[in-house]
Amino acid sequence: MAKMWAGRFKKEVDSKVNDFNSSISFDGRMYRHDILGSIAHATMLGKTGIIDPAESEKIIAGLTGILQDLESGALAMDMEAEDIHMFIEAELTRRLGDTGKRLHTARSRNDQVALDVRLYLRDEVKEISALVKTLAETLCGMAAEHTETIMPGYTHLQRAQPITFGHHLMAYANMLLRDLGRLSDAAGRMNENPLGSGALAGTTYPIDRELTTSLLSFDRPTQNSLDGVSDRDFCIELASAISIIMMHLSRFSEEIILWSSWEFKFIELDDAYATGSSIMPQKKNPDVAELCRGKAGRVLGDLVTLVSMMKSLPLAYNKDMQEDKEAIFDAVDTVKLCLSTFIPMLKTARVLKENMRAAAAKGFINATDCADYLVKKGMPFRDAYKITGALVGLCVDTGKTLETLPLSEYQKLSGLFDGDVYDAIKLETCAMTRSSLGGPAKESVERQISWMREQLKAY
Ligand code: ARG
Repeated sequence: MAKMWAGRFKKEVDSKVNDFNSSISFDGRMYRHDILGSIAHATMLGKTGIIDPAESEKIIAGLTGILQDLESGALAMDMEAEDIHMFIEAELTRRLGDTGKRLHTARSRNDQVALDVRLYLRDEVKEISALVKTLAETLCGMAAEHTETIMPGYTHLQRAQPITFGHHLMAYANMLLRDLGRLSDAAGRMNENPLGSGALAGTTYPIDRELTTSLLSFDRPTQNSLDGVSDRDFCIELASAISIIMMHLSRFSEEIILWSSWEFKFIELDDAYATGSSIMPQKKNPDVAELCRGKAGRVLGDLVTLVSMMKSLPLAYNKDMQEDKEAIFDAVDTVKLCLSTFIPMLKTARVLKENMRAAAAKGFINATDCADYLVKKGMPFRDAYKITGALVGLCVDTGKTLETLPLSEYQKLSGLFDGDVYDAIKLETCAMTRSSLGGPAKESVERQISWMREQLKAY
């Protein structure tokens, strides 16, 4: 097919260059947004009298027909086309003749593509946010069931202090709440209309940018035409918000992988969300979590692609920017895929409370509480710390735990110890008396859950 811009050229473009240049294989997915953008543009051209209103109507009807035909499958995308914008305009002209050729008045593909990507991503952000919200709600629901499920809390992956599974889950809910905030910030800044920036220098036609802005439900038009066509901050900002979501999902996945190992056995994944091995019959692998962890790297790669693609570009549009789409679309697709698989995997996992409780009992994670017991009886913390250290050493040497060490042994190290020490170092006591704001005590976690549910209503 002859190029729309063939007039200036004496030769056909080399077929390799044609393929190299073409983006329809990946920008074809924006067909709906391209058509909606063109309908708004055509409406504006008619309303302002830049083209005859009757022709504007015909263009709108023609575009609507193309949209229907693409959706029904009656019209197939021409993979030989340079991009989705050229394809739709060519199809319109095929259907309407000269009228179709008027659509691109006072517009460039540069403002057109900037518009389409914004429109497309605006819809995607809504879907991503809905999934992140669902995951946060799922965590609130699970946490509410596990406000008394004792587990070891870790630092350095060493058992540290007793917490509850509910408390642990709510840590992730807080990360996701911040993710929702970041998505909403990105969506807000993205919601500006670049249409009317033209190729780079606006236009001499009396266009009405406020009209297309309101027709397309943007908050405002972009304020500088050079920036309007050459800004891809909105892709980068979204990719970074998505990268952070993926990083959170990856940390969570890492824990799920550890928890489902025989060494931990804190949870058991449902058969529907695990896979077997082709050679080892005993295996049940946490592939979903592993893939989420792996794909976090891939999405981070998308972010790096975008930032490095943009970092040296002079103003305004450069063809390099066509590379934005595969990266941001991949980030968007990947995060949606991961979230929508991760959520049911988490929901269906069996929580093995007894194993969590048993692991919490083995690592002297009540040692801080033992020292605090002495402090509450008047001993300075550093002395109490030393004595407790000696007790732990004794337990290790004699194969005991602080719970099973006889009172006589305690009393050899300090006369302040009494029979009530066993109550003070009970794991349940240790977790449930940590009722400081944000802590693991039942009421504290319940407060965290209701606060979270309240915050989530904003999204
Ligand atoms: N396919 C191009 C892109 O994705 C559309 C813009 C082309 N503009 C141009 N001046 N060649 O960026």
